[in-house]
Amino acid sequence: MAGCAVNVKALRTDPAYKKLLEEQAGIVVAESEFKFGPLRPTPTTFFFEDADFLAAFAHENRMKLRGHNIVWHRQLPVWFESYVTPANAKQVLVEHIERVGGRYKGQIHSWDVVNEAVQVSDGLPGGFRNSPWQKVLGGTGLVPTYIEVAFRTARRVDPKAMLVYNDYGIEGEEEASAKKRAAVLGLLREMQNHGIPLDGLGVQSHISAVGKDGKVPMYGEGLRAMIAEARKMGLKVLVTEMDVNDRYVPAEIGARDSAVAAMYGSYLGTVLEDPAVIAVLTWGITDKYTWLNGEDSRTDGQKERPLPFDAAMQPVAAFAVEVKALEVAPLRG
Ligand code: G3I
Repeated sequence: MAGCAVNVKALRTDPAYKKLLEEQAGIVVAESEFKFGPLRPTPTTFFFEDADFLAAFAHENRMKLRGHNIVWHRQLPVWFESYVTPANAKQVLVEHIERVGGRYKGQIHSWDVVNEAVQVSDGLPGGFRNSPWQKVLGGTGLVPTYIEVAFRTARRVDPKAMLVYNDYGIEGEEEASAKKRAAVLGLLREMQNHGIPLDGLGVQSHISAVGKDGKVPMYGEGLRAMIAEARKMGLKVLVTEMDVNDRYVPAEIGARDSAVAAMYGSYLGTVLEDPAVIAVLTWGITDKYTWLNGEDSRTDGQKERPLPFDAAMQPVAAFAVEVKALEVAPLRG
């Protein structure tokens, strides 16, 4: 199953983008509109128009719909810090899930229930991120209280949705990735030990064609081992946010596209070896709307080309490589 994240504003306004999605995406997820901040203008009100728009688009086009995300340390509303306290945090979280999960009940293939809860450098036991949710509803257990509450509530509210823990920086061979991977797997194991409902691991896969050091990064043994471990725990694995930045590839476009395509090929070849991997989503579909171009990341001022379609919505080499990788992947249930 393959698809991408959607820029909902562009979906409303750009017919060529809408057409490309209709032609290419089997599963979609909103880049922002299902997040806590965008959905919650005030503590007592909800804004569903944009999320509903994507849900309707997915339904009309028989696409699967992912929910991203319920709990995250970013894109929280401005009122969060002053309003949410240890005394009311659980109630705020449960009510949020009841309203949002309840509204889309039966329509969601999988929810990223908790996103990016591990940040080893924050120094907390278990490697947990010292996030706004951790501060008000972290507790002292091996599984932070907010994570337990979020997954249990999500299961109660929408029992058919696959419940996923999603994170980044767990793909590579370098030490930081290995440590983060270990902390994430530790969390998932503890969740299972505590009987907390969990169905999948989301591996974001924001990766690089070439690293800052000029070398091609390695995605191999550690990644394979993590996916195998998740499979042995009975979990599915989803590549949830893949893109390949070409920030450190020299300027010539052909060379950049080849480097990006080569990375798509080797990365997808590696992850799709394992039958636990059931979905591949890129974080966007066209370079016209990639988040990577929100910041001027290339020192030569050129825009990045990290996605299967370029800014003119023409397929680049990475597209053919992605299609091929999905075609030749061993069948899975
Ligand atoms: O919609 C408002 C618009 O009304 C306002 O005028 C404008 C001014 O800044 O902001 C718009 O909101 C932006 C939103 O994207 C929608 O485009 C936010 O500022 C901007 O911060 C937000 O960025 C998103 C980012 O998450 C938030 O941290 C990116 O689009 C989105 O691609 C990115 O996605 C994350 C995943 O959720 C988790 N994994 C990493 C990934 C990339 O950072």
